[in-house]
Amino acid sequence: MILKTERLVLRPWNESDAECLYHFAKNPNIGPNAGWPPHKSVDESLEIIKTVFSKKETYAITLEDKAIGCVGLLFYPNTNHYWGDDGVELGYWIGEEYWGQGLVAEAAKELIRYAFEDLKIKKIHASCRHENHQSKRVLEKLGFKYYCDMKNTDYSGKEILERAMLLKKNDKESNNIKNMLKRQKNKKM
Ligand SMILES: CC(C)(COP(=O)(O)OP(=O)(O)OC[C@H]1O[C@@H](n2cnc3c(N)ncnc32)[C@H](O)[C@@H]1OP(=O)(O)O)[C@@H](O)C(=O)NCCC(=O)NCCS
Repeated sequence: MILKTERLVLRPWNESDAECLYHFAKNPNIGPNAGWPPHKSVDESLEIIKTVFSKKETYAITLEDKAIGCVGLLFYPNTNHYWGDDGVELGYWIGEEYWGQGLVAEAAKELIRYAFEDLKIKKIHASCRHENHQSKRVLEKLGFKYYCDMKNTDYSGKEILERAMLLKKNDKESNNIKNMLKRQKNKKM
């Protein structure tokens, strides 16, 4: 599947993206915040493309066909937490050079639309570390609501505290209607 937004194309990862992936994923500001260690070589990045990024509904975020980040839906048992046997979790990261442009929210918004409309998914979970303000903001922009705090261990075995967030299809629909009504009211005034 290929999904398009105003600025981005979301497409499956290719083995030829390995060098690009390594460039972004060797940065210690990326993986450890998303739950994985920085990549140590292009070969490691290639292996991740073949084994992890090849899973269903995992997309390269591309700008002019350059893979600059990743957004995907994780399905149990590949989720970071157990949300139930039908649990679906949103995951994402983007290269540091591209932070602060709202690109991940733009990509995730389209993936969520596809998940709710085409995959008939009814709710999507997400979690981020308490101190990951950037990720929390992305989830808020997407309409996710705080759900509870959860303990987890990172890839090195260290205990961490995460914020669990939830987006329900019905909430999103009612928010969309509320916003539409607000816009109509503002136009009339
Ligand atoms: C979290 C992440 C995906 C956000 O992506 P993004 O496209 O930069 O998100 P946005 O542009 O919407 O910015 C989100 C917030 O980050 C902060 N921010 C923006 N640019 C920043 C920068 N250069 N440095 C630090 N923080 C920044 C702002 O507070 C912003 O909120 P605002 O729009 O209300 O001002 C990205 O920072 C990232 O990949 N981080 C590492 C991996 C990670 O944490 N993944 C999520 C795991 S739960």
